[in-house]
Amino acid sequence: MVKTVRVAAAGDIHAGTADGDRVREAFARVEEQADLVLLAGDLTQHGQVDEICVVADACRDLAVPVVAVLGNHDWHSDRPADLVRALGEAGVVVLERTHTILPVGGVSVGVVGVKGFVGGFGSQWANFGEPLFREAYAETTRDVDGLERGLRAIEGCGLRIVLLHYAPCEATLVGEPERLWLVLGADRLAGPIAAHRPNLVVHGHAHHGSFEGDVDGVPVYNVAVHVMGREFWVFELDAARQTPQLPLTVEES
Ligand SMILES: [Fe+2]
Ligand SMILES: [Fe+2]
Repeated sequence: MVKTVRVAAAGDIHAGTADGDRVREAFARVEEQADLVLLAGDLTQHGQVDEICVVADACRDLAVPVVAVLGNHDWHSDRPADLVRALGEAGVVVLERTHTILPVGGVSVGVVGVKGFVGGFGSQWANFGEPLFREAYAETTRDVDGLERGLRAIEGCGLRIVLLHYAPCEATLVGEPERLWLVLGADRLAGPIAAHRPNLVVHGHAHHGSFEGDVDGVPVYNVAVHVMGREFWVFELDAARQTPQLPLTVEES
């Protein structure tokens, strides 16, 4: 029985309509190297349907499952439902405060997907004041609740993964100006991660951040392509390992 699962992850592909060849070739390459592909949001430049079709077309005939969350860029044209539909028609599982459980090489792999939202770190953003500020706080609360719910649902899986767009910790933001951290992630996302201790957490969004971090010892990776300097990173996850440990075995793609 296969106990090692190869998980390829990338965020912030930012596909434009002229990027068909680049994107298709990248996915064709990673199909050979991975058992599961994770996309950590910002799949498009401006959330246009013709942009998401570039990614959807690259995923359509892949032999490995692809699981995605949207990012803020994918919301920019107010058409997230159309983007989710286009990806779904190509076989991509899009998670929106939900989870999926996939059998991969004899291992049940649970993935919880939440875009996440703003909030910052160390009480930068409080549930106070004007309705718009309180609504932003509530939006992040809905993500935290979705993360908690999903992690409970995949509790019994052989491998458990959290897929985000926004960062749950400061370590993977280092390199970005600190004044921007408020809109690059939220420490409230770390609560369910610390409580449930998944095997791997990946996010994107912070193009100038750092690759490796953790939440209370749970490995967190910023897989924005700008940070990785490559199209995908392939993580080898050992399903026999009971608790996450740093560093993971990391294989360059
Ligand atoms: Fe991005
Ligand atoms: Fe983003």
